[in-house]
Amino acid sequence: MAESASSIPPETDWDTAPGLLDGAMTLELSAEQCNLGYWLPAVAQGTLRDRARTGHTDAEPTPAHMRADGPLRDAQILELGCRSLAEEQATRVLGHYVAQATGVAEMEFFATQLVDEARHSMVFRNHLVELGVPAVGLFDTIAELTADYRIDVLDPILDFALRTVRDDGDFIGGVAVFTIVIEGVLAPAAELSERKWNRLDPAAAAIARGASIDEIRHLTVGSSIVREHLRRNPSARAALLDVVRRGRELWDTIPDRKHILVREHLFQEGLREHGALVGDYEVWPGTRLVDTEPEERYEMAERWTDKMAAARLAYMGLPEAVEILRLT
Ligand SMILES: [Fe+2]
Ligand SMILES: [Fe+2]
Repeated sequence: MAESASSIPPETDWDTAPGLLDGAMTLELSAEQCNLGYWLPAVAQGTLRDRARTGHTDAEPTPAHMRADGPLRDAQILELGCRSLAEEQATRVLGHYVAQATGVAEMEFFATQLVDEARHSMVFRNHLVELGVPAVGLFDTIAELTADYRIDVLDPILDFALRTVRDDGDFIGGVAVFTIVIEGVLAPAAELSERKWNRLDPAAAAIARGASIDEIRHLTVGSSIVREHLRRNPSARAALLDVVRRGRELWDTIPDRKHILVREHLFQEGLREHGALVGDYEVWPGTRLVDTEPEERYEMAERWTDKMAAARLAYMGLPEAVEILRLT
């Protein structure tokens, strides 16, 4: 097939791709479909057209109020610092998925996911500079900002993935950990971010939209890899459920809520100052963003996590895992 605009499938086209929640619950994509030959035109030349370096176009600016000192800017700096570090650390872990992949289709897919996550880390980090954080010493600034989040949240969940895929050599278990526990929990935070910043920080909203288009693919292909493995090896079910159970036990020890609420409270203060910019914008149907509270937003993200997990786990053929993972 000649490469043209028609090489960009609807799920990676900026104008037609679904939102994260919808896409992650309804799309079906496999590693065989999403190989390197798919990714190059569909993502590198499709999703990322005009947005490769910064994650947004010039028509999606960083407004002056985002560069001015205050809680709104502090909230965004904390959020993007944490998410940039999370994406960087995830990229490093994904190197082991590339190494352990059972077939070439899976290897190529994880090579593309690795680049996707490295890009997310880059564009989140670069937006900090657009907010006026000095480029000199940026990595040190992020490390300082995220030190506790890293120790409390990121290190334990990524160590769990590393133990599974690298130390136990369990590729499929590792895919389940990444798809269900890591992406499954980070994705609703990404969805919330896109909705929260939509009116306040158009550059950040575009960056989030681009990342969400990628995350749909990571969630759906990861689910498909687990599903195909279970179909061919029904006896793998017990070991997979055991990984899910251990993932849940681990998650219950992680103070994610405490960390997320710090930035949500900062956002709340900023929202009070800049509410006029948000107007009647609805963060979800029937609820204006200006009427929401930090805890309410966190709880909505948890409900999205549950909804997405239920849909993906049923698709994988692990409906028993829904109850194990339920957060709300
Ligand atoms: Fe990502
Ligand atoms: Fe991802």
